[in-house]
Amino acid sequence: MAGNKMYEALNEQIKYELYSSYLYLSMSAYFSEAGLNGFANWMMVQAKEEMTHANKLYGYLISRGAPIKLLPIDGPPSAWKSPLDVLQEGLKHERFVTSRFNMLMDLADKSKDHASKIFLQWYVTEQVEEEENFTDLVNKLKFIKDDGGALFMLDKDLAARAFVDSTQAAEA
Ligand code: FEO
Repeated sequence: MAGNKMYEALNEQIKYELYSSYLYLSMSAYFSEAGLNGFANWMMVQAKEEMTHANKLYGYLISRGAPIKLLPIDGPPSAWKSPLDVLQEGLKHERFVTSRFNMLMDLADKSKDHASKIFLQWYVTEQVEEEENFTDLVNKLKFIKDDGGALFMLDKDLAARAFVDSTQAAEA
């Protein structure tokens, strides 16, 4: 049986996932205000995904009989310099989240908590995709620079992103 330290750290991770959702919701609002509705949609889908990441952690802790102690969530920023700035900050945040999961994996290793390690593997894989998605958009925006037409085309593409609860498929 794992010690409380692991469960406390997983409990804390719920806060970071909910903060991620809050951050992307704020970024979605920024894009809506700028009239970039495709980007706003992409960020809204991202915000919804983060809620599922938090819920997956919550479900795991409940299944292990671990105590849930929800922590306060910081307010996210609401202003950025440009669409590129938004995506760069998003990428930076995802890298931070990746570092959290690496730390959690180390903790699972150290405490020989095999169940938590298997559980956390889903997040380690997910983080590869998360960083890739943000990097892809950062690169595209760097390429676009001040080309309004190209930005409009990308915005149109991003309007197509639909929400899929990937945590459900993994648990089937
Ligand atoms: Fe829950 Fe974007 O990682």
